Amino acid sequence: MSQSQSLGAQSLGANDGSRVAVIGAGAIGLGIGWRLARAGCKVTVFDRGEAGRSASWAAGGMLAAGVETEPGEETLWQLAAWSQRLWPDFRYALQAETGQDIGYRDEGTMVVALTRDDLEQLRFNYEFQRSLGIELEWLAGSEARRREPYLNAGTTAAVYCRHDHQVDNRALVTALKPALLKAGGELREHAEVKGIEIAEGKVIGVQVGDTFHPADVVVVAAGAWSRDLPGLPEAERPPVRPIRGQLLVLKMNPAEPLLRHVLWAPKAYVIPRRDGRLLIGATTEERGFDTRPTAGGVFSLLEGAWRALPGIEELVLDEIVVGFRPGSRDDAPILGPTAVDGLVMATGHHRNGILLTPATVEAISQYILTGKTVTAIQPFLPNRFRSPESAALSGLAART
Ligand code: GLY
Repeated sequence: MSQSQSLGAQSLGANDGSRVAVIGAGAIGLGIGWRLARAGCKVTVFDRGEAGRSASWAAGGMLAAGVETEPGEETLWQLAAWSQRLWPDFRYALQAETGQDIGYRDEGTMVVALTRDDLEQLRFNYEFQRSLGIELEWLAGSEARRREPYLNAGTTAAVYCRHDHQVDNRALVTALKPALLKAGGELREHAEVKGIEIAEGKVIGVQVGDTFHPADVVVVAAGAWSRDLPGLPEAERPPVRPIRGQLLVLKMNPAEPLLRHVLWAPKAYVIPRRDGRLLIGATTEERGFDTRPTAGGVFSLLEGAWRALPGIEELVLDEIVVGFRPGSRDDAPILGPTAVDGLVMATGHHRNGILLTPATVEAISQYILTGKTVTAIQPFLPNRFRSPESAALSGLAART
């Protein structure tokens, strides 16, 4: 990404030694903290609970920039594709820093059709995604089953994307913690930010319990909780709400896995991990922050996965996970500076937090270090929600 744009009065241009407070220790917050600590900033990452245990823990870890792109998401595709390209280097840097394997797998992703309706939908998405330049392979049902022998015998066709990889999101956040600390950053868990402090249009720090923590820059990376952070000026509250997802974890014999690719079936996705876990996700629900799983959610996931991969019925159901995606008003992330000097957003990643981690880390860190916004995030600046005019300028339609 070569092009960038300076934001004049709002630019930070922080030099090494700047004090940065990051609110939220998910993959995004930890990643930004790691990167800035490596660049010499004095970073503290705060989390109201245990680091990495919210949306980052409940995610699937699919790096599916290709097969998940739908009509209307052409701008998001650019950002997602950039992040997908950054992923291998991000992975190698993190593994080199920590010596930890983050479960990156590059077998690719397969999308299957089981019925006539599915086939039409698959063909439509295939044509659309190919029109964006996404590299896809159309497979006959027999070829899909040759590659994945446990697929339903009635599989009519499939699309294969070799660039859509996966990472173990839990291993990712587990590695980001020591990476942050090793780079000189500080992690404060169970430390809820009670107030973002602003004076004369500039952030001056955060209040955590009875302690004031001074900072030149405050990064909001609190996912679905970003909107309600105390101390945010009304005009700067990101329009983010929790989009609940339930996900199941089954256990396979790792020596005889039922699946090797990430699989998108019409009503569920299925992700095999090397250690034998088989993830089935995920529901999309508007239920606020309710953490209780439902029979309907579990039923629909099992049915959706079972139709594509009947062998799952023999597996042990090990875990039911409930997570909260940070969904924004236009379903796109909210990235970059606000009208308050030093207050920076890195939130609203909705279904794409893990995929967009490297691009977010890179773009937000570059902004904090140089005061410039890379081209890739210009459509996703927080100011697009200020008025219909600014939304139109960003090229994203504001939804209510
Ligand atoms: N990215 C998968 C999901 O949000 O369910």
